[in-house]
Amino acid sequence: MVRKEEELAIRNVLRGKFWASGAGVGKVSEFEKKFNKYIGSDFCVTVNSGTAALHLALSLVDIRNKEVILPSLSFVSTAHAIIYNGGKPVFVDLNPDNLCIDPDLIRKSITKKTRVMLPVHFGGMPCDLDEIKKICEEYNTFLIEDAAHAAGTSYRNKKIGTHGGAVCFSFHTIKNLAMPTGGAITLNGNNGNNHQSILKSKRWCGISERKGVKYNVTHLGWNYYMNEFSAAIGIEQLKKLDKMNTKRKKIARRFSKEIDLTNKMPFNNNCSYHLYWIQVRNRRNFMKKMQENYIETGIHYLPIHKMDFYKLRLNLPITEEIGQKIVSLPIHPNLDESDVNKIIKLTNLFAK
Ligand SMILES: Cc1ncc(COP(=O)(O)O)c(C=O)c1O
Repeated sequence: MVRKEEELAIRNVLRGKFWASGAGVGKVSEFEKKFNKYIGSDFCVTVNSGTAALHLALSLVDIRNKEVILPSLSFVSTAHAIIYNGGKPVFVDLNPDNLCIDPDLIRKSITKKTRVMLPVHFGGMPCDLDEIKKICEEYNTFLIEDAAHAAGTSYRNKKIGTHGGAVCFSFHTIKNLAMPTGGAITLNGNNGNNHQSILKSKRWCGISERKGVKYNVTHLGWNYYMNEFSAAIGIEQLKKLDKMNTKRKKIARRFSKEIDLTNKMPFNNNCSYHLYWIQVRNRRNFMKKMQENYIETGIHYLPIHKMDFYKLRLNLPITEEIGQKIVSLPIHPNLDESDVNKIIKLTNLFAK
């Protein structure tokens, strides 16, 4: 939902001639503080994508030749970020009710090499964090959450972003909180402060100890800092995030009541509903019929472990079945009642 406020914010940055700085001052620092306050996390470091957030968050733990547990039903960045850091992705099957990683199966996949748990709050639905945190404590592993879909989702009355040691958000154009590109890592716990300064340096090529125009580089970093235009849009989007998520929830409530299918996303008032998924037997036909009626649907996702780059023969029966049947319906705050009526009516007509 983009209105005059975003246009004005962009114009002000454009005319102000301060467009970007690796130092993370200006609008970037303002957004960082406001997002941290909104989430209720200890610290927040913004970056220029959700992928960068995952890359940097995983660099906080030495995962070289170690294992990271994650679901395969996600965007490829979740797994790529492990490879960027020299680790090995260990894909684990899902709870078929919410399509989040199944904690019982996590337990079965732990080895001496496991260092990190990387659950994805799928479509904005919160994972079973109580159980996952318990496992992390038991096996002394670090919890990093992929919350790319979960800006505004809550779990146990606290926002997603406050539970794990590092929680990664995406502000890509299609996300609940949209920017041209953007991301953030919220940090919690005893090491939060230290992690914050490491990440602020890594997002700007490893630059540290800046004094005037002089600086030092103490470790490897990347060009991952957020620009002022993204931050300015983000500040406006953040003001209306709850309102936009309430609209998404209203639509999701109707979908979950009125769509006549057994396998569909359940209703949960704590969910941000970045996605609304259903499962259909003949996906190709369903998507074609919807397209003919001017309704765009999507596939989130084809399982990562089936991609040629990974190509793993794994026993993930739930992920594989869902990977063949899952379809995302349109869900966003710009849909009006007649759009929602049409989506429900045509889904019920074509999905059987
Ligand atoms: C689950 C998940 N993780 C990570 C990302 C990566 O975010 P970005 O596109 O901002 O790099 C996405 C983006 O779609 C995502 O859906």
